[in-house]
Amino acid sequence: MKALILSGGKGTRLRPITHTSAKQLVPVANKPILFYGIEAIVECGIKDIGIVVGETRAEIESAVGDGSKWGVRVTYIPQSAPLGLAHAVKISEEFIAGEPFVMYLGDNLIKDGIKPLVSEFASSRPDAQILLARVSNPNQFGVAELEDGRVRRLEEKPSAPKSDMALVGVYMFNAKIFDAVRAIKPSRRGELEITDAIQYLIDKGADVRPHVINGWWKDTGKLDDMLEANRIILSTKKKSLRGSVDSSSTIEGLVEIAEGAVVENSTIRGPVIVGENTRIVNSYIGPYTSIYYNVVVENSEIEHSIILENSRIKDIKRLEDSLIGQNVEISRTLKKPAAYRIMVGDSSRVEII
Ligand code: G1P
Repeated sequence: MKALILSGGKGTRLRPITHTSAKQLVPVANKPILFYGIEAIVECGIKDIGIVVGETRAEIESAVGDGSKWGVRVTYIPQSAPLGLAHAVKISEEFIAGEPFVMYLGDNLIKDGIKPLVSEFASSRPDAQILLARVSNPNQFGVAELEDGRVRRLEEKPSAPKSDMALVGVYMFNAKIFDAVRAIKPSRRGELEITDAIQYLIDKGADVRPHVINGWWKDTGKLDDMLEANRIILSTKKKSLRGSVDSSSTIEGLVEIAEGAVVENSTIRGPVIVGENTRIVNSYIGPYTSIYYNVVVENSEIEHSIILENSRIKDIKRLEDSLIGQNVEISRTLKKPAAYRIMVGDSSRVEII
């Protein structure tokens, strides 16, 4: 069995972060989202992973490499333009070479992994297995209509959803899917939809099995989803203090402090993760915060936020519900005239009090 991870796409809902960085590489609990997918696949014993890449190919390749750090082989499959998930399958036919495979959307996070689902697929060998989860906003997903435990119809982002069962971004297929992706036409949004390809299989009488998952799952396309994913994953971490914490600091709850990190005269209330060589000085870091590597936080309070590498936050009263990109500087000034002096990227969002 092989695996195909889709890691193209523009990440428009996570701008400005995605102007300079692939959405699949945004860290959740200080680990790129994409790595959770790779680990879930590795856990299934799959050794051959194809990653479909677009404009951000170079960045994805330099983060993932040849797969040897997970003991697997990674093959990169370039997609010329984001023409849809079914298009990504189409261009991967040579890599898949007739084997059954798992397709995993690189921005999806499934807390409990996919091992039992892949074993079930491998032993019962249907033509396709889809994962479904109940959501409160089905119009933003592919939606399944079930009848007597079988999939009757699938619809991509319907304006009037017929159920609350969303298609999770993990699919299992045999080679029949290649006939389907060749047969379908682009949707209204101009993409070859995997949802339409699966509907084609159903219409042709193929064995498409639904599997409803009850555990936590997230498609991390937006800021709120990233923060939620960060909350869920941080809550599963163990306490580990490898950096240095001075005697005037207080560490409470599930806190992970990486090697080379320094905490001085600060309070850290978990769940929190602090990355390598980050300095926290005279500050409070509150629950559900991930601070990546080489960051400096001084005289500030941060809660429920994600801070990316090499950023500096100084003299800031309180930062909450925020996602701060790489190399960002946020500080307080006494310069006159007293004014906000800001240089923010395109599509940024700033709330000021
Ligand atoms: C894609 C699929 C959709 C599925 C979702 C899961 O949507 O087209 O059917 O429910 O992934 O993450 P997209 O994220 O490309 O809009």
